[in-house]
Amino acid sequence: MIISGSIKETRNQVKEWKKQGLSVGLVPTMGYLHEGHKSLIERARKENDKVCVSIFVNPMQFGPNEDLDSYPRDLERDSKICEEAGVDLIFHPEVEEMYGPNFCGFVDMHTLPEKLCGASRPVHFRGVQTVVSKLFHIMPADRAYFGQKDAQQLAIIRRMVIDLDFDIEIIGCPIIREEDGLAKSSRNTYLSAEERAQAVILNQSLEEAMKAIEAGEKDAAKIKSIITDKLNTCPLAKIDYVEVVSFDTIQPIEKVEGAVLIAIAVYIGSTRLIDNRILM
Ligand code: PAF
Repeated sequence: MIISGSIKETRNQVKEWKKQGLSVGLVPTMGYLHEGHKSLIERARKENDKVCVSIFVNPMQFGPNEDLDSYPRDLERDSKICEEAGVDLIFHPEVEEMYGPNFCGFVDMHTLPEKLCGASRPVHFRGVQTVVSKLFHIMPADRAYFGQKDAQQLAIIRRMVIDLDFDIEIIGCPIIREEDGLAKSSRNTYLSAEERAQAVILNQSLEEAMKAIEAGEKDAAKIKSIITDKLNTCPLAKIDYVEVVSFDTIQPIEKVEGAVLIAIAVYIGSTRLIDNRILM
């Protein structure tokens, strides 16, 4: 397994594989890999000759008061996980390698990034789009794999690839959950024992919404209030947002029909967690 911090070396290696007629899968990550990332790597392993994983805690997608400094990092552990999963190349650049002096080449889209997480994290998606565009240029892969847990991110990247003509297939992969239903996330490590126990409320509230939808409920406002009522039963939960939107446009809808994203963001103590259901 190659571990490289160099854009030039990484790009040359991927180009060499492409020249040999090999297919390449890319799994972009910020490291501290968990079962969710492993499932993306496994899928990439099955569908491609070569698998690249990027590990880069991207400062550009963190706001001034967010957790950039405390975001968990462990390259040694991540490398072991990648090696065992059959990864061919880890791209692990320094910040200076990705963003040189006078950097100003931002990728920014309208509409899709403005609601949900974009409303409370104003610079976040500009940072994600910029770094993902750079990763697609550095590692010109055939396919890139993203988790559906970050559903708005997935919708934005899909749109970006269409609008900016990237020659790459975007594959969305299912959310991986703990046994009690909490969606796996590197940020779960911030939770105290009491917070961890209460964090299960996110998935439970979405389960209640799904039961109502299966029973025929189509009114988006009613679905939102079912989720909000359930979340409000949890003493440590503070709602950031509960939204029912079109999965294609991330705009609010009144009726649950077509491609729908039910998305929530909730603080459990001081940790902000997200979860969702995508209906197609
Ligand atoms: O989902 C993530 O871990 C990050 O947002 C990504 C896509 C790796 C970009 O930094």
